[in-house]
Amino acid sequence: MPATISGVPKQGTLTTLKTDFLQHYGTVPQIFRAPGRVNLIGEHTDYNDGFVMPIAIQLYAYVAIAPRLEPRIRVHSRNFDESAEFSLAENSVGSRHHWSDYLRGVTGVMRAQGVPVCGADMMIASEVPVGSGLGSSAAIEVASAMALLSVAGRKMAPIEIARACQKAEHEYVGSMCGIMDQFIACFGQAGQAVMLDCRNLIYEFLPTDEGVRIVICNTGVKHEHASNGYNRRRADCYAGVSAIKAHCMPKITALRDLTPSSLKGCKDWLPETVYRRCRHVVSENERVTAAATALRMHDMKTFGRLMYDSHLSLRDDYEVSCQELDLLVDIARKIEGLYGARMTGGGFGGCTVNLVQAEAVDEFAAITKQEFARVTASIPEVYVCVAAQGAGHVVEDEPCH
Ligand code: GLA
Repeated sequence: MPATISGVPKQGTLTTLKTDFLQHYGTVPQIFRAPGRVNLIGEHTDYNDGFVMPIAIQLYAYVAIAPRLEPRIRVHSRNFDESAEFSLAENSVGSRHHWSDYLRGVTGVMRAQGVPVCGADMMIASEVPVGSGLGSSAAIEVASAMALLSVAGRKMAPIEIARACQKAEHEYVGSMCGIMDQFIACFGQAGQAVMLDCRNLIYEFLPTDEGVRIVICNTGVKHEHASNGYNRRRADCYAGVSAIKAHCMPKITALRDLTPSSLKGCKDWLPETVYRRCRHVVSENERVTAAATALRMHDMKTFGRLMYDSHLSLRDDYEVSCQELDLLVDIARKIEGLYGARMTGGGFGGCTVNLVQAEAVDEFAAITKQEFARVTASIPEVYVCVAAQGAGHVVEDEPCH
């Protein structure tokens, strides 16, 4: 079944990007793209050396590029309808709280790693809704890195691209993200979910079930990662590891090393909030492993139950959900044909991911929109997804999706 994506300005992105670029800079660009993602299960585990299970989605960030002689980057964002410019030499670390930070970061990190970056004119057009927890930043970073490598005539292994883009986000955006989003933007495969072990980056493709649709519902509430909640949650986890290490388990290096019962032994003396943060991560790792087994056995009921459990844990222990996300999950739970629902991504707004029987999708979308609008007076966007291909060069005449 072809994917239906409603509410996203998707059609013709590629054609208009080329003509806009030609008009803006007077040259013909090459075009690169990288996908957004939705994480089926395994939230806030990646920066704790844990497991995640994302898919790439067929919403892409496109980056058009042509080389220029001067060692400067000129970039235009079609989404913000704004241009920025910076010298490669003067591009120091630190966030400027501007969309161009992603590109400054990618060029800065590549140069710091000794990868040559040459001057370029660039234009960015992203279909991935910004601030919705669908990996829009990573999509822009990865597509930009590939574009810059191409005009410099260089190559980097995909895993090194993912790592460099994560570093760019840490140093130039200020979000201490894990590797999940950049990884799946590089490695996504059509029709496959990826079970990734973030400790050693070993991964396994798991085919998504044919009779099931992955449906994303967008609350429309924008998340704010960089400044506050996300980095504080990460700090809570690291505080937990330090305390447990000092107190009783000197060998652990990450929450990944704990089991639910070994963590329980620390309940009496760990600060209550830190304990709950750790409990989320430790239990979520177990859920991802169980979900992978369920997917291999086409046991979508079990997969769905694990998704609900994940949502509750993110809501109550990790405290990264919000009223609108909880509402979407509550609505979904009552709809016939739903296997499971949970918030996805960093949280504090953004989207839910739902596993729905193929034949129930239309009704699921209609009821969700109606019920959410009844309570909040706003209609959520609903995207029906398939697992899509990861980043790459967009070759002339290749159908885009
Ligand atoms: C954001 C980060 C990821 C991951 C998720 C939460 O998307 O970029 O690295 O931590 O939040 O699972």
